[in-house]
Amino acid sequence: MSDNLSDRTVSGQMNVANLGCKLWAVGGGKGGIGKSLISLNLAYWLAKLKQKVVLVDADLGGANLHTLLGIRFVKHTLADYLNKRVAALDDVAIPTPISGLRLICGASDIVGLANPKYQQKQKIIKALQQLDADHLILDLGAGSNYDTLDFFLSCHYKIAVITPQPTALQNGYGFIKSALYRSITREFSNNTLLAPVIARATDQNANDPIASITDLIDAFEKVHPSNSERLQKLISDFHLYLIANMVRTAKDRKAAEIIKTVIQKYLNLEQVSLLGSISYDQQVEDSIALMKPAFMNKTNNQSSLEFYEMVYDLIKMTSPVKGNENKVHL
Ligand SMILES: Nc1ncnc2c1ncn2[C@@H]1O[C@H](COP(=O)(O)OP(=O)(O)O)[C@@H](O)[C@H]1O
Ligand SMILES: [Mg+2]
Repeated sequence: MSDNLSDRTVSGQMNVANLGCKLWAVGGGKGGIGKSLISLNLAYWLAKLKQKVVLVDADLGGANLHTLLGIRFVKHTLADYLNKRVAALDDVAIPTPISGLRLICGASDIVGLANPKYQQKQKIIKALQQLDADHLILDLGAGSNYDTLDFFLSCHYKIAVITPQPTALQNGYGFIKSALYRSITREFSNNTLLAPVIARATDQNANDPIASITDLIDAFEKVHPSNSERLQKLISDFHLYLIANMVRTAKDRKAAEIIKTVIQKYLNLEQVSLLGSISYDQQVEDSIALMKPAFMNKTNNQSSLEFYEMVYDLIKMTSPVKGNENKVHL
């Protein structure tokens, strides 16, 4: 298995600079499903594959990325930048033991700023995008509050992490649905004719509820036909990426397929990509218990192999491969 991995090659000098920094959001319905672990290992493998990466801890409730990286003390957090204690955002991106990977802690401070307005969040995202990096990965908190959803929606690559248990799948679906409806609400926020129509789709206590996206499109058609087209475009442009985590059985592996089908059927999302399924890994659990770095980078290990393959494919998917081919070893 390890030979197989070390034989693989990937471009080391991809010309991504002029494409700007790619923003990744890692979200999901519940806590404890592995969003932070997935963010960390995505960042780890992108860095190993010679990309410049900044990982941002945007979990309100339980910022723990530094611990997963084996870092005990954090010198700077995002608050230092927001409060102008440091001049540049680059200064709060602290180095990690992994070459090419930096970490920004305390993005929770953003949301601590007494409910940042939408424009403020956009400003923060813009500032993050100016960082000297090829990839910026936002590790989001659990749940579907507006701040989490807005950060999720601001990113180029929106990853929803799911786990195979039925309740977790339900939560995952709920998160994705909330994200889509938040996106629709924002898109038409200035339209007074459509606002009550959208409210019928999003307000659980609505008198005359609109239960599906198809019905919402129909309702738009009646009120404002040109905006019905705009709504359909928003939905068809909405690209979602799924990662199934803590997979243990063959049946578990099907969970991602099932949720994909459900999303396509009930939310009309056509562009749903399954990035991969990551096995449950006892070694990772043990490392975390010992406060050691939780990298999925062990040879002869299923989850490490899955991660490596996934990120390798992902780089090919997101970047035109140019230049030198560098070998990387697990
Ligand atoms: N693939 C995995 N293999 C083993 N344990 C995992 C895996 N993914 C997550 N875990 C366990 O779940 C816990 C929660 O993961 P975490 O990434 O902090 O979740 P979240 O960010 O969604 O709250 C981890 O501390 C770890 O014990
Ligand atoms: Mg987390």
